Formats: sequence, C-alpha cells, structure tokens
Amino acid sequence: MLSTRIVLGIVVLGATVLGLSLVFQRPPPPAEASVFTSSNQCQACHATVHAEWADSQHAQSWINPAVRALSNDFANTDCIDCHAPRPVLETGLANRVLPRESRRSEGVDCIACHQLPDGRMAGTLDRADVACRPVATRDLARVEYCAPCHDQHKTVTQWRETEYARNGIGCVDCHMPFRNGDPNQGRDHAMHGGHSIDVVRKAVTLGADRVGDKVLARVENVGAGHHFPTDERSRAADVFWRTLPKDGSAGGPWRWAYRFRSPYRHEVELVDTLLPAHQTREVEIADPDARGRIEVALFYKLSPYWKDPANPDPEGEARLVHRVVVEP
Ligand code: HEC
Ligand code: HEC
Ligand code: HEC
Ligand code: HEC
Ligand code: HEC
Repeated sequence: MLSTRIVLGIVVLGATVLGLSLVFQRPPPPAEASVFTSSNQCQACHATVHAEWADSQHAQSWINPAVRALSNDFANTDCIDCHAPRPVLETGLANRVLPRESRRSEGVDCIACHQLPDGRMAGTLDRADVACRPVATRDLARVEYCAPCHDQHKTVTQWRETEYARNGIGCVDCHMPFRNGDPNQGRDHAMHGGHSIDVVRKAVTLGADRVGDKVLARVENVGAGHHFPTDERSRAADVFWRTLPKDGSAGGPWRWAYRFRSPYRHEVELVDTLLPAHQTREVEIADPDARGRIEVALFYKLSPYWKDPANPDPEGEARLVHRVVVEP
C-alpha cells in the first residue's frame, strides 16, 4: 500500500511539473499562421506572381529535360542541390544550398526563395496578420541572394567587375523589373534570361565594316550585367557570314567565323572566349569570297553541339540575335 505521504508527494510533483510547463510553454502561434507545404498554396492569394513564376525556368528546374538528361535523371545527386533546393535563407547566403526531400517537382519555388527559418516569408513589408506572415528582408534584392545558386559558373563574380556593380544595378534590376515600371506593383517573377531571345538581343550589338580587303565584325556587350553568354557552359553565341547576291536571290551557305563560350573542363583544347560587360570583340573575316556583298550574323545556342559539326546549320539549330549586310 502507498503511504499518504508518497501519494501527496506524487501529486505535488505532478502539479509542479504542470505549473512549470505552463510557465515555460511558448505562446501558441497566431490563429492565422499556416505552415506551407507546397508553393501551389500561394497561388490563391498571389495569382500574378504564381503565373509569372510558372512561366520561368525556376519552375522548370526539376522537370527540365535538358537537366534530366545531363544529370542522368538526378542519379547524380549533386545536381539536386540547386534544382530542388531547401530555402536559401535557411542555409544562409554565404553557403551552398542543400537538396530538399519533398515537392521536388516544384523546382526553385516560392518556398525555396522566400521562407525564413521560422516559417515566415521574407518580403518587402511586415504583416503579422496575413497567412504567410511576411517580414521585410533587405537581403532579397541583393546579388548575394542569387549567388548561392548562380555563382557556380561565376555570374555574380563577373558582375562585380562591371559598371553596373559600381552603380548599384543588381540582378533583380535587369531580371525582375517592376511590373509596368511601377515600384508599387512589385517585381516580375518570370526572370527571363537565355531562353528568351528578346533578352539575349538586348545583351549585345553587332556591327561590321570593310577594312582593306577584309571585313571586321564587332560584337559589343552593351546590355548584360556579366559576361556574354553567362552561367552555363552549354551556352554558345556564334558569328557566321555568307555571300549575299545583290539581285535578292538566296544567300550562300553560312560559314562559321567565331564562337563565344566557356568550355566544359574536359574540353581542354578550347579557350574561354566569353565577352565581359562593356567590352567589344573584333572578328576578322579574311576569306576572298567576303570581298563581295556579304551578310554577317550572330546566333545564340542553348546547347553547344551541332548535329553535323562539319556543316553547322545555325538557322535550324540556333536562334538569330542580330544580322548586318556589308556592301563591297
Ligand atoms: C550551385 C547550383 C547548381 C548546381 C549544383 C547545379 N546546377 Fe544546373 N543550373 C544552375 C543554375 C543557376 C542554372 C541556370 C543557368 C543558366 O540558365 O544559364 C542551371 C542550369 C542548368 C542547365 C540548363 C538548363 C536549360 O534548359 O538550358 C542544365 C542542363 C543543368 N543546369 C544541369 C545541371 C546538372 C547536370 C547538374 C549536376 C551535375 C547541375 N545542373 C547542378 C545551378 C546549379
Ligand atoms: C490566404 C492568402 C495568402 C496566402 C495563402 C499566401 N499569402 Fe503571401 N500575402 C498575403 C497578403 C494579404 C499579403 C500582404 C499584401 C500583399 O502583398 O498582397 C501577403 C504578402 C506576402 C509577401 C510580401 C509582399 C511584399 O510586398 O513584400 C510575400 C513575400 C508573400 N506574401 C509570400 C507568400 C508565399 C511564398 C506564399 C506561399 C508559400 C504565400 N505568400 C501565401 C496573402 C497570402
Ligand atoms: C528565385 C527566387 C524567387 C522565387 C522562385 C520567387 N520569388 Fe518572390 N520575390 C523574389 C525577389 C528577389 C523579390 C523582390 C524583393 C524586393 O524587391 O526586395 C520577390 C518579391 C515577391 C513579392 C513581393 C511583391 C511582388 O510581387 O514583387 C511577393 C508577394 C512574392 N515575391 C511572392 C512569391 C510567390 C508567391 C512565389 C511563387 C509563386 C515567388 N515569390 C517565387 C524572389 C523569388
Ligand atoms: C535556389 C537556387 C536559385 C536561386 C536562389 C536563384 N536561382 Fe535563378 N536559376 C536557378 C536554376 C536551377 C535555374 C535553371 C533552371 C532550369 O533552366 O532548369 C535558374 C535560372 C535562372 C535564369 C535563366 C532564365 C533563362 O531564361 O534561361 C535567370 C535569369 C535567373 N535564374 C535569375 C535569378 C535571379 C535574378 C536570382 C536572384 C534574385 C535567382 N535567379 C535566384 C536557381 C536559382
Ligand atoms: C544590366 C542588366 C543585367 C544585369 C545587372 C544582370 N543581367 Fe543577367 N542577363 C542580362 C542579359 C541581357 C542576358 C542575356 C544575355 C546573356 O545570356 O548574357 C542575361 C542573362 C542571364 C542569365 C541566363 C544565362 C543563360 O545561360 O541562359 C542568367 C542566369 C543571368 N543573366 C543571371 C544574372 C545574375 C545572377 C545577375 C546578378 C549578378 C545578373 N544576371 C545581372 C542582363 C543583366
């Protein structure tokens, strides 16, 4: 039989534990706070942002066939880190992002970019009264925020050497313009880059002049805040030329003259020919056939390889950026 004293002792101890736990228990979260498990949950309240994001490469990063092919369907698990990342603000801006285990098909999504370690959402304003509990976070608009994923191939490092960096024009100023140019309407989340030929066209100008019996083509990086092209070794921009009869009949076959590209590590025979911001590259065309009327063109490719390297077909396999005609 338990003595009254022991029973009393247990009751007192129990009451103390209960009391302490009440004192030390953290206040319950506000009723409206939600724990988000999918970026689809943001769609109902942020329809415009969601539609823009759905049209971005960020939303494709896990399902993108090019990524699937090169990563062997993510059997190379190193590739998961940036293509299905945990929240950037959780791992910290100075660190490489980490792979996440769930909702990988959403790729680089709202939660990966916005969620703070405590579950609230980094934004430009403080609101404790709405479901996602936004917190004003200056880091969001800084280049350091894109760097954990985008400096792997040195885009942020390249940017630091530019006039844009000196003038405080960062990644979001070019890639996330304010909607309708109005700061009150927020930033466009489509974040177009190399997949949009309109964006690529803004990066460079193409000119060509006759100097003696040669043609000098000039490509100037006037609009990219980093090298042209940047980020992916698979990107290439090629200068081609062809004879162009005056009578309007079809031009001759395209002839390759120059390539802008950062080679893969195994391509030891190639040198890095990327064009830094504000710089001009001159390409000499000395072929005797170029003494007549010719057309010079710049093409952009998302993959560096031609189906038949001996006979590249820029019009079929690349996209036209700019073209100029040079008279005899
Ligand atoms: C440190 C972050 C990071 C890691 C790790 C990473 N990627 Fe990427 N990947 C990126 C970024 C950022 C881009 C966008 C660059 C661009 O569009 O030029 C990209 C773009 C790509 C593209 C181009 C997609 C397209 O449609 O053109 C391919 C393919 C790709 N990655 C494959 C891989 C593979 C394969 C691996 C693993 C070996 C990998 N990535 C690992 C950040 C990363
Ligand atoms: C139930 C509606 C609702 C849901 C769901 C919701 N939000 Fe919000 N969110 C709001 C409201 C309301 C505001 C404050 C005013 C505004 O920006 O429209 C806001 C503000 C924000 C802001 C700050 C806006 C700024 O101007 O700086 C961010 C960032 C944000 N939400 C991200 C998210 C993300 C990411 C998700 C999904 C994980 C999400 N929200 C889900 C309603 C919602
Ligand atoms: C690649 C990172 C990235 C992704 C993905 C992303 N955002 Fe953003 N978001 C930003 C940045 C950067 C800003 C601008 C912050 C600033 O201006 O200081 C921003 C701004 C916002 C704002 C403020 C108002 C506005 O429209 O600009 C809201 C709301 C928002 N994001 C919600 C979302 C939602 C919802 C998703 C998913 C559908 C999403 N974001 C996906 C980086 C991202
Ligand atoms: C968590 C990693 C991550 C962060 C943070 C991130 N990105 Fe990306 N970004 C990617 C990946 C991965 C891709 C390539 C997706 C694909 O094509 O499969 C990409 C692609 C892009 C592209 C290429 C679009 C195109 O048309 O080819 C642009 C531009 C871009 N990001 C801009 C930004 C900017 C600006 C920021 C900072 C505000 C940012 N990203 C933050 C991972 C990230
Ligand atoms: C002055 C405007 C400007 C600034 C600043 C800028 N970019 Fe770009 N970016 C461009 C243009 C134009 C292109 C298209 C040409 C190219 O690929 O270089 C581009 C292309 C890209 C691409 C696509 C490359 C590909 O292979 O598809 C990525 C990714 C990118 N930028 C990321 C960034 C990041 C990250 C920053 C910040 C460090 C940044 N950009 C700053 C204008 C800018």
